[in-house]
Amino acid sequence: MKSYHIITFGCQMNEHDSERMAGILEAKGLVPAAHAEDAEMVILNTCSIREKAEQKFYSELGRLSHLKGRDGRGITIAVAGCIAQQEGKRLLSRTPSVDLVVGPSDIARLSDMVTARRERTKPVVETGGDPEYHQKVVPAVRTDGLKAWVSIMYGCDNFCAYCVVPYLRGRERSRPPRDIVAEVRSLAEQGYREVTLLGQNVNSYGKGSADPTTFPELLGLLQDIDGIHRIRFVTSHPRDLSDELVHAIGDLPKVCEAVHLPVQSGSDRVLAAMNRNYTAAEYRDKVRKLRVIAPGVAITTDIIAGFPGETDDDAEQTLQLLRDVEYDNIFAFKYSKRPGTKALDIPGHLSDQVKEDRLAQILRLQRDITLRKNIQLVGSLQEVLVEGASKKGGTLTGRTRGNKAVNFAGAGDLRGLLVTVRIQSAGQNSLTGELCE
Ligand code: 5AD
Ligand code: SF4
Repeated sequence: MKSYHIITFGCQMNEHDSERMAGILEAKGLVPAAHAEDAEMVILNTCSIREKAEQKFYSELGRLSHLKGRDGRGITIAVAGCIAQQEGKRLLSRTPSVDLVVGPSDIARLSDMVTARRERTKPVVETGGDPEYHQKVVPAVRTDGLKAWVSIMYGCDNFCAYCVVPYLRGRERSRPPRDIVAEVRSLAEQGYREVTLLGQNVNSYGKGSADPTTFPELLGLLQDIDGIHRIRFVTSHPRDLSDELVHAIGDLPKVCEAVHLPVQSGSDRVLAAMNRNYTAAEYRDKVRKLRVIAPGVAITTDIIAGFPGETDDDAEQTLQLLRDVEYDNIFAFKYSKRPGTKALDIPGHLSDQVKEDRLAQILRLQRDITLRKNIQLVGSLQEVLVEGASKKGGTLTGRTRGNKAVNFAGAGDLRGLLVTVRIQSAGQNSLTGELCE
């Protein structure tokens, strides 16, 4: 095996895990192939957060299996990520085209797995979870050059009733602050200007570690790294959004005023059934605080439509919360049954049609709100990190601190710089403006 290709499904965490797997494989001498068809090893880095994500994987696997059989080249197919963890050995028996199965906490073992695969022909499975993973420094191949993801913790202890993540990614473990600081410092030296810190619940960073550094303190350490202009993070559990973190967002100049704060539902009854540990009123309070202490903060959220037992009245409360909070953007999903989760046993599972209708209502309402929020920025001056030429041509593109895409006229050599742009017009997905001197 000399060349590899990775196909990634799912969240930013998975995208970054793919960068790490690429790092491990390249350290072993493998080279990237642009297409699965040209690679000797193909890794499918999978997601199982919802049934649809799982279906996408199985259809891609079908396509690759066909390829494997057809040209007799004997490509190696590896399955990584959440489905690898969920299915483990069963993947090998059910889908004979799969040669390698590696769980998200076993990535560091990939190098040895490739060796084992080269030496013997028997399939290799690693899903036991490496207890030292969070203390390991794993290389990553990043291609953006400007914006980088950095994992700061793994796993989740929250056990929201609908979610498979805690079962698949294990208990919360935080990486040592010195390793994170060293990684971000090295990124700055390579020319990276923005980092997004990744974790299922970043605000409980440090919990249970020998090192007492908290998440706001970690932000303070990263603030001092020269060369980095911007720091972002995902995701925050509303229950754990502490006053200290709100102040860090307000006070630390590099920490962007952009918070992804998944609410899931606007009904207290549903929130309790989901095991979210906050009420809608407490959530609204946190949003209010954020807006006072970090003015102009962009707030985004996740919503689940049609959780088991959700009534019309509960659904209306979610719509009302959307109207009240006025999110900059949302990610909304139909509730999807996940194996092993508590929500399976909650009475009152809804039909697909009901879930579909409620989701459509949520998305319709939010469309207007998103556009309105963007229009509110017309006339304002925004700090923009320039990413380069826009797809439209003749213009530059970049993002505001609130993470909104902005297109504006300008010369091509501004990539990586912070500039000021006056916003002139706004659409559903982006803003247009002019560069200020
Ligand atoms: N069904 C639908 N959406 C889900 N999410 C997590 N589990 C499920 C599920 N079973 C959503 C939540 C979470 C986001 C990452 O995915 O909204 O915040
Ligand atoms: Fe899943 Fe809840 Fe953990 Fe997020 S906080 S990963 S929704 S269990």
